[in-house]
Amino acid sequence: MRLTKTILRALAGETLPRPPVWLMRQAGRYLPEYRATRAQAGDFLKLCYTPDLAAEVTLQPIRRFGFDAAILFADILLLPQALGADLWFETGEGPRLSTISGVQDMRRLKGAQDIHDHLAPIYETVRILKRELPAETTLIGFAGAPWTVASYMIAGRGTPAQAPAHKLKDEDRATFAALIDLIADATVEYLSAQVMAGAEVVKLFDSWAGSLKGQDFADFALAPVARIIAELKARHPGLPVIAFPREAGAHYKGFARATGADCVALDNSVSADWAAAEVQVDGCVQGNMDPKLMVTGGTAMEAEARRIVQAFARGPHIFNLGHGITPDADPENVTRLMEVIRG
Ligand code: CP3
Repeated sequence: MRLTKTILRALAGETLPRPPVWLMRQAGRYLPEYRATRAQAGDFLKLCYTPDLAAEVTLQPIRRFGFDAAILFADILLLPQALGADLWFETGEGPRLSTISGVQDMRRLKGAQDIHDHLAPIYETVRILKRELPAETTLIGFAGAPWTVASYMIAGRGTPAQAPAHKLKDEDRATFAALIDLIADATVEYLSAQVMAGAEVVKLFDSWAGSLKGQDFADFALAPVARIIAELKARHPGLPVIAFPREAGAHYKGFARATGADCVALDNSVSADWAAAEVQVDGCVQGNMDPKLMVTGGTAMEAEARRIVQAFARGPHIFNLGHGITPDADPENVTRLMEVIRG
C-alpha cells in the first residue's frame, strides 16, 4: 500500500522534497490555549487523565500551526504510576515519585500486565484523536525508555547526572536490572495498547541516555530499547518506531541498526553535517534545531532552520527541535518557522 502521510513516508525511508515537521512538547505552556485548558483541568495530571481535555490540547498546535504529526498528550511518568509508584507534580519544580532503593520497594510494584486499568483514559485519548485528527496528520504515541523512567523511579525526582540511579546500578545490580526489565515489559504493553487504540508511530524518550557510558550504554540504552522494539514489531508488523537517546553523542552512530529503530531523534549537541554522514546513512533522522531559537526567533532562527533542512536534504528527515519547546517560546516564531520550512 502506498503511504500518503508525509511522516510515514519519511519513516519508511523516503527522501522528500521538503521535510515533514512537528515539535517536541508542541502542546505546552508557550500556547495561551494550552494554559487555558490546563487551568480548566485544575492540574497537569488531571489534564493527562481527562481524555477530552488531553485530546483538546493535543489538537491545539495542529489547528494553529498545521504540523504533520500530533503527539499524544501524556507524560512518561504515568507508566510508573500505573505500576504502583506514587506520582505528583510540585508546582514550578517538576515531578515527584515514591523512591526505589532496594528489592523491598520492587516487591510493592505491580506486574507489567496490570497497568491497563490505570492507563485506560490514555487509550481513550488516543481513540478520540484518531477520530478528530485531519487525514494527513500522523498520530504518535510514546513512552519513556527504561533507563530514563528508572532514573525517576529510583530517585523520586529529576537528579543531576542521575546519580541515585547510577548508584543502584553499581551497588545492587540485580534490583536495578529487574526494574529495567519490568519497565521494558510494561512499556511493550503500554505502547501496544496505544497502537491498538490508533497510534500510528511510537516514540521512546531516553532523555538521560547521555549519562550512560561505555558498556552501560550498551546494556541499558541499547539492549532494553532493542527488546521493546523487537517485541512491538512482532505484535504490530511494520509499526514505525522513533528512538530518542538524548545526548548519546558518538553513540548515535549505529543506534538505529543496533535497536531496530526506524528513525533516530537527534538532540542539538550533535552537528547536522556529522549526523547526515554518520546517522542518516542508516535511515530517517529527526531533529535537531536548538529550542532556544524558538524564544529568540528572527533571522538567526530562519538561517538555522534552512541550514538544518539543507544538511539533511539528501536522505529521509523529519524536522524537529533537539529537545522540547520551552514555555518562554514565542508562538509567532513557530508560525514563521513553518513558513520557512514549507517555503
Ligand atoms: O511532546 C509533547 O507535546 C507530548 C507530551 C509530553 C509531555 N511530557 C507533557 C508535559 C511528552 C512527550 C513528555 C515526555 C517527558 N516527560 C519526558 C521526556 C522528554 C523530555 O522532555 O526530556 C520527561 C523527562 C518527562 C517528565 C516530566 N514531565 C518533567 C521532568 C516535567 C517537568 C518539567 C516541565 O517542563 O515542567 C514534566 C511536566 C510536563 N510534561 C509538562 C508537559 C506539557 C509541563 C506540565 C505543565 O503544564 O505544567
